[in-house]
Amino acid sequence: EKGGYDWFMRKEIYEQPQAVSDTLLGRFDADRQLTLDEIRIAPAELRSIDKIVIVACGTAYYAGLVAKYAIEHWTRVPCEVEIASEFRYRDPIITPRTLVVTISQSGETADTLMAVRHAREQGAKVIAICNTNGSTIPRESDAVIYTHAGPEIGVASTKGFLTQVTACYLLGLYLAQVRGTKFGDEIATIMAELETMPAKIQQVLDGTEDLHALARELHQVPSVLFLGRHVGYPVALEGALKLKEIAYLHAEGFPAGELKHGPIALVEEGIPVFVVVPPQGRDQLHDKVISNIQEVRARGARTIVLVEEGDAEVEPYADKLIRLPKASTLLQPLLATVPLQIFACEVATLLGHDVDQPRNLAKSVTVE
Ligand code: M6R
Repeated sequence: EKGGYDWFMRKEIYEQPQAVSDTLLGRFDADRQLTLDEIRIAPAELRSIDKIVIVACGTAYYAGLVAKYAIEHWTRVPCEVEIASEFRYRDPIITPRTLVVTISQSGETADTLMAVRHAREQGAKVIAICNTNGSTIPRESDAVIYTHAGPEIGVASTKGFLTQVTACYLLGLYLAQVRGTKFGDEIATIMAELETMPAKIQQVLDGTEDLHALARELHQVPSVLFLGRHVGYPVALEGALKLKEIAYLHAEGFPAGELKHGPIALVEEGIPVFVVVPPQGRDQLHDKVISNIQEVRARGARTIVLVEEGDAEVEPYADKLIRLPKASTLLQPLLATVPLQIFACEVATLLGHDVDQPRNLAKSVTVE
């Protein structure tokens, strides 16, 4: 049932083009209107919300962090992202005008479920983004957007993450459509780019043979750092989490601009530092990230740089380049995450770990 793959995780990584395409399927109709039939919350009510709060755990939380950038940019509604286990215990400010969005692959995560209950008690509307039909979180929410990724068996979430980001983007665009903060043709342009992503994810998958050699070189290091900015920051966090949970390696993700405020002290001779570079030209942060790469390299780091094809500026400072197809900044996480998933899977395999069932972890965490 692993379809010829050694691990479910690897199978699920390779299913991502299909999974993302299934998340997008049938959402954009012939009149170029985004339709999310599942959202049974009246447009008038969606127009009245004054705050969005995304609540989730682990990888789903990182998907929420990515989504915040897009949702705020498209809707101009303030959007907070919070770890579910922290949410209800701090007396959060939730009103009937707050839209709470939960993200959960399993739909059974206790921390997230408790957050749903708390939010609804405060009169907020709750939309669940979920992969598991009929699971508890969607049942207890006002509406659900299913990600349609198919079953995810590997404990390490992979296609879960990519489809969660995609579903959040659909929600963001839908809110922008309903609230009139984006014109129809702008939404159509973004939808058209989203629809190109499955093919680009496939391109990334087709070009990852050399990650095996990279994993061979690096699987015995004591620690790995990941840097990114803007949407690249949650990608860095996700890359680090994958290494922690299946390879049991110490790994940390940081916002690249935060380096000089402390973490750069960790950089010593030979430490691998993965860096996600924003698209060149169209992004003001591109040059800043290149300087960050120079800073860690000058201190002895081995830099592994994820950068879009055609960007030559970073070449002199990269010990290893991982090329990504071109995409706009907001969509780059759908590509940049994939090599990090494969790298973690390769390292864990080399170390002889059970990739699908890492120690101490369960696929769905049904206790608070
Ligand atoms: O089923 P959920 O999406 O609610 O699960 C949330 C986290 O437990 C989950 O993403 C966890 O962090 C994964 N093992 C990460 O790979």
